[in-house]
Amino acid sequence: MHTTRPRITPRSAAAVPPRWRREVARVLISQERIARRVRQLAAAIGRDHQGREMVVVALLNGTVLFLADLIRHLALPLRLDFIGVSSYGSGTESGELVFTKELRLNVRGRDVLLVDDILDTGRTLKRVLAKLRRLRPRRIRTCVLLDKKARRVEPVEADYVGFEIPDLFVVGYGLDFAERYRNLPFVGVLHPHVYQEASKPAPPRGRPAGLPQQLQRPRGQRRRLLGGSATRSYTRT
Ligand code: PRP
Repeated sequence: MHTTRPRITPRSAAAVPPRWRREVARVLISQERIARRVRQLAAAIGRDHQGREMVVVALLNGTVLFLADLIRHLALPLRLDFIGVSSYGSGTESGELVFTKELRLNVRGRDVLLVDDILDTGRTLKRVLAKLRRLRPRRIRTCVLLDKKARRVEPVEADYVGFEIPDLFVVGYGLDFAERYRNLPFVGVLHPHVYQEASKPAPPRGRPAGLPQQLQRPRGQRRRLLGGSATRSYTRT
C-alpha cells in the first residue's frame, strides 16, 4: 500500500497563468506536479492489484479530470462505473447527501477502487463506502487526489492520497466553485472577491445575485463558503 503523502504548503505555489489571474490568487499544485503524482499513484495501485481485474468506481462530478488521468496510467484490466452524489442543504455544513446516479456494474466478489477528488469532512466517502459494502465486493480501496485532514468529522482515511492540503478552498482539476473552474489544469485558490460576490444576498426584486438559480444550491466545498463558519475558515487563508 502506498503511504507517502506529499504535504502541500502555500509556499509550494507556482505562478498563476495570466488567463486566470483575475479570479485565481495562487496555484497551490501545478499541472506538472499533479501529473507526476498521478503517475506515482497509478504505479502504486498497479503494484497492489497485479493479476486482478478491478472495478473503478468514481464519484461524480469533481473526480472526472483526476480519474481520466489516473486510469490512463493503469495498465490493468479494469471496468469503470460511476456513482453520482451531491450535498443538498440549507447552506450549512450538514447538507444532506443525495445520490443522483447509482452504480450499474455488479461488484459482488470484485476488487473495487473508489476514486474521488477530495476527502474533506469524510461524510461523502463514509456514506458511499457503506453503500458499496452492502454490495459485497471482495475488497474496497479508496483513492483521492486531495486530503484535507483538518476538516475531517468522520473517521475516514483513503488508501491512496495524492496530496495532503491545508484548509483552503481549492478549485481546479475537477474541483469547482459554483460549478465553475473545474477545467483549470492546476489546483488553485480563488481570490476572495470571487466567492464574496457569489454569496451576496439576492436583490429586492428576487433577481438572482451573482449566481444563476441552479448554482445557488450549496454542495461540497461550496456549502462551506456559503455558511457562516465556512466563511471564517476561508478568510483565514
Ligand atoms: C465534493 C467532492 C467530494 C466531497 C467531499 O463533492 O467531490 O465528493 O465534496 O466532501 P466531504 O468529505 O466533506 O463529504 P460535491 O458535493 O461538491 O460534488 P462535485 O463532485 O460535483 O463537486
